[in-house]
This record gives sequence, C-alpha cells and structure tokens, in this order.
Amino acid sequence: MKRVLLLGAQGQVGWELQHSRPPFVELRALGRQDLDIRDAAQVRHMAESFQPDYLINAAAFTAVDRAESEAEMAYAINRDGAAHCAQAAEVCGARLIHISTDFVFDGSQATPYQPADPVAPLGVYGASKAAGERQVRETLGDAALILRTAWVYSAHGNNFVKTMLRLMGERDALRVVGDQIGTPTWAAGLAHAIWTTLDHPEFTGIQHWTDAGVASWYDFAVAIQEEARAAGQLRRAIPIEMIATSAYPTAARRPACAVLDKSASYAALSAAPHWRVALRQMLIESTEA
Ligand SMILES: NC(=O)c1ccc[n+]([C@@H]2O[C@H](COP(=O)([O-])OP(=O)(O)OC[C@H]3O[C@@H](n4cnc5c(N)ncnc54)[C@H](OP(=O)(O)O)[C@@H]3O)[C@@H](O)[C@H]2O)c1
Repeated sequence: MKRVLLLGAQGQVGWELQHSRPPFVELRALGRQDLDIRDAAQVRHMAESFQPDYLINAAAFTAVDRAESEAEMAYAINRDGAAHCAQAAEVCGARLIHISTDFVFDGSQATPYQPADPVAPLGVYGASKAAGERQVRETLGDAALILRTAWVYSAHGNNFVKTMLRLMGERDALRVVGDQIGTPTWAAGLAHAIWTTLDHPEFTGIQHWTDAGVASWYDFAVAIQEEARAAGQLRRAIPIEMIATSAYPTAARRPACAVLDKSASYAALSAAPHWRVALRQMLIESTEA
C-alpha cells in the first residue's frame, strides 16, 4: 500500500482523485475545513502524524478575477501554502505532487509551451502560482512533481462547462470569447494521470498535463452545446456568437494562447484523449448519474 495525503480534497481535482483512488492507495483526503494550507504547523503536523509516501497538493485559490483584488489571500494560499506542503514533504520524506497552471505563461507564443520555458504571468493568480512553483523547487528541486494543467472542468465544482449548461438553459443567445486558445481538461482524466504517476517515480520536475487538442472558449462552448444536446441534457440549441476578449472585459488579463506541450508526460504516462472525447464522456456520465 502507498500512503497518500491529499489536500484540497473538495475541489474539482481533489474530488476526482478521491473518487478514483486506486486499490493500492491508503488515502487521507482533507478539505479546507479539515486543514488550511496557509497554516505551516498544521500541514507539517498532519504530514508527520500520517507519514505519507506522497503528498498531493490540489488546494489553491483559483478565482482568477477575484485574485486581482485579493492578492494577499491568493499568495497566502498559492505561494505560501505550496511552500508549507514542500516543507512538510521534505520533513517526512514524502514525494510532493503539486498542481499548477498554464496561467504562469503570458500566452504570447504561437507554439505549445515546454515545461522549461520561462514563466511570465499576466495576473495575480498566475503570479501567485508561479511563486508557489518556485517555493516547491527551492525546497525539493527536481524531487517534486509540479504538474501544470489548464481549463479544468468536472461534474463537481464551478467551471466553464457547468456555467455554459446553466446559461444555455436560461438564455436565448450567448456571446463567447473566440481569441483565447487553450485546452479543456476533464478533471477525471487528470486525476487518473496523477494516480498513474505513482507508478513512475522517475516522472518528476515540472511537467505538463492537459487533454489533447486545442480550442477557443467559443469552440468549447459550441462543443458543450452539441454534446449536451446529444447526451440529452439540453432541450434546444441557442445561437452562440464569437466575440473578442476586448468585448468581454474582466479584472484579470488572460493568456491569449496557452497550449502546453505534453509530449514528455504522454510518453511517460499515456496519451490523454482529445478534449472533445473527454467532454462527451463527462456529459454522458453526468446525464446518467
Ligand atoms: N480550474 C482550472 O481551470 C485550473 C486550471 C489550471 C490549473 N488548475 C490548478 O489545479 C489545481 C486544482 O484546481 P481545481 O480546479 O480543483 O480548483 P478548485 O475546484 O477551486 O479547488 C481548490 C480547492 O482548494 C481549496 N482551498 C482553497 N484555499 C485553501 C486553503 N487555504 N487550505 C486548504 N484548501 C484550500 C478550495 O476550498 P474552498 O472552495 O472552500 O475555497 C477548493 O476545494 C489548483 O492547483 C489549480 O491552480 C486549475
């Protein structure tokens, strides 16, 4: 058995990790109400008492726009919390798996970002996550796994898919940004990839994992409507208009094109499905549930 301490257990990724726990894993899954990663002593005490082989940090401040006005909180969770996890992992000899984001990049590059490319976050959320990555590397170097992902959705939690499904049921038309490109990623597939890393101790350092393919938010919205209708979740189709980012102002600037290069992780673990295949599966499963 491998002992795994999971922090941020009630988030999208945390929930999917809990619900796909492999049989060889003894899991201690803690949500924010059980353990606040801002509290270094609490994190260390929990790690020392449970003595995990792996510590997975899926806890984060993920409200990208709110981070602009709550920078102190974003840094306390995304930078200091990551540091506390790294210190606790070091003390108890656990391997840290820390989840990070495509938002560490500015999205100005036309080709996919390699894990070693320099970071250049545009907003507080990305900057606080980049600071968290630095903290982890300062303490653990390449012994830790920092897994960057992007555009995460799940049947559980708040995300673009659930927002679109709600709006498509309520409104007669939608306008969605078409000039931001990335890769939608089903949290269930990401959770499976994370569990697979336990069989690959050599898979460490900064790595990228998303589903395959690319999309704009507009493409994603169109696919959500089509697949949700096919799955029987939406009665009617509404017109979806593609708009520019400039027509949809938000507090935080977002990367225009943040596609992550996954060749190393796909070779080490196994390739992810195309994002649309994963989306279809998620919508079919959530219709049946
Ligand atoms: N969502 C995305 O599109 C996306 C994209 C790229 C990377 N990521 C990264 O993937 C990881 C998981 O994200 P997710 O989508 O699962 O996010 P999520 O659904 O927002 O989950 C994050 C969880 O962390 C918890 N949390 C917040 N502050 C905490 C604290 N101080 N102590 C302990 N727990 C705390 C949250 O609890 P509360 O809800 O109670 O605050 C929430 O349950 C994060 O590292 C995120 O940066 C996400």
